Amino acid sequence: MGPEWTTPEGDASADAPALLLCADWLDAVATLEAASVDLLYADPPFNTGGPREGRAGRFDDSWATVDGWVGWLEERIAATRHALKPSASVLVHVDWRTSHHARLLLDRLLGADHFVNHLVWAYGLGGSSARRFARKHDDILFYAVDPQRYWFDPPRVPATSRRLRGRTKKATDVLLVPSINNMAAERTGYPTQKPLALLDVLVRACCPPGGVVLDPCCGSGTTALAALAAGRRTRASDANPDAVRIARDRLRGAAATIRRDPVLP
Ligand SMILES: C[S@@+](CC[C@H](N)C(=O)[O-])C[C@H]1O[C@@H](n2cnc3c(N)ncnc32)[C@H](O)[C@@H]1O
Repeated sequence: MGPEWTTPEGDASADAPALLLCADWLDAVATLEAASVDLLYADPPFNTGGPREGRAGRFDDSWATVDGWVGWLEERIAATRHALKPSASVLVHVDWRTSHHARLLLDRLLGADHFVNHLVWAYGLGGSSARRFARKHDDILFYAVDPQRYWFDPPRVPATSRRLRGRTKKATDVLLVPSINNMAAERTGYPTQKPLALLDVLVRACCPPGGVVLDPCCGSGTTALAALAAGRRTRASDANPDAVRIARDRLRGAAATIRRDPVLP
């Protein structure tokens, strides 16, 4: 028998709103039903060249060559294809080290004409450099399985112009969301944890209400939590047992977190 998805409470229930699994991305997606996923959000290791460590966990993040990283990702996205609905979208979260490779890879796997957006997540915090512009954004590549059928609800952000003061406008492809600060209640101590506010925007924009969000590198479970809070369902897995334990704890406490966090209604 293959690996088994369980609820945050540890029960086996094939159609629960949230299911978790500790497994390699490849093994996790092999268990999924065909055409069952509305949104694949993947935040894989960025190939930073060393381990990523935090108070609550650690994962390896180095490949001998960038081609090795591309091959690793290619195999896993290709293995996920069967689980995507024809109306599904794919979001791959990378940074300056690999975004150009990932874009070509996704062109190859999904089709260059299936590209929708190159989103820039501008997060602000961190150091500066005297030798270059400070690197203060990640890249999220957005592709549609079928450019004629993908679901999209444009997020709205506060308008900045004097004419539209106090109103909202449709968001651009630059998402201004602060990274998690040291005092934030949502901080778990898991390395590279993404902010709930970012995943809230992505999930609401790219997955229909009630739809299924798959995160096969779920880390601390941010995507799963945002999906539940937004009334979506989620399948979240990670190869690292520390990650799955943290995600499980966060999802078990989801009701309280959702009430406390003003970002998540
Ligand atoms: C950038 S982190 C994800 C962080 C997450 N988005 C969050 O908000 O906490 C990448 C994750 O990929 C996981 N990972 C690495 N190799 C994997 C594999 N082969 N299959 C599944 N997960 C993997 C790591 O354990 C790590 O948790």
